[in-house]
Amino acid sequence: MSEDLKRQAAAMALDTLQPGMRLGLGTGSTARHFVALLGERVAQGFDCICVPTSEATAEQARSLDIPLSDLDTLDRLDVTVDGADEIDPRLNLIKGGGGALLREKIVAAASDAMIVIADSSKLVDVLGRYPLPIEVNRFGLGATQRTVGEVIASNGAEGGLRLRQDGSGAPFVTDGGHLILDAFFGRISQPEALGRDLLDIAGVVQHGLFIQMCKTAYVAAPDGVRTLASA
Ligand code: A5P
Repeated sequence: MSEDLKRQAAAMALDTLQPGMRLGLGTGSTARHFVALLGERVAQGFDCICVPTSEATAEQARSLDIPLSDLDTLDRLDVTVDGADEIDPRLNLIKGGGGALLREKIVAAASDAMIVIADSSKLVDVLGRYPLPIEVNRFGLGATQRTVGEVIASNGAEGGLRLRQDGSGAPFVTDGGHLILDAFFGRISQPEALGRDLLDIAGVVQHGLFIQMCKTAYVAAPDGVRTLASA
């Protein structure tokens, strides 16, 4: 059921695209549906050029002969289509459950618009139930982890921090070669301030709060796909 809803949201985003667009391709199970549908469209002759937000998405896109480029070649993109872990009423997001938050944010920031596709389980009143991913440099991990712990505590975190692990129990390593700390908040009452505080920490590369980046979300529920727009 959930996969069907994700696919419906992805199909809605696909319908908004124009030929010739420069697209950012998101990462995760919902974005995967979008890339699959885009691949079908490309096979029918749809013209586009795409920048993937992860090695996994790049691999999927290549397997579907979707034309790929990068942000060294293209200075701007028209639209990025990506999933999210949480979406609040202002369309602020938590992203990075799949570990691709750094490239996702770089690609979204280089795009004129960011469209989020999701099923309705991702909608929340207040961000923070989903652990906030924080991408950190490997160097000085202990020091960074202590400082991040202090910052999240002073920003009201109810839980602590956990170094993300992969399936084998080893530290999860991002496409950029960094590590991820997952921060357990419960609720994030001041996402803008928290985001700034985290980026002030030397070892923090990026965090998964996407503030005022998403203008449109297609959210699929059993009774249909809703279009949400930020104010
Ligand atoms: C990847 O790093 C994430 O930001 C994903 O976009 C997010 O986790 C949503 O993934 P799903 O579509 O798999 O829920």
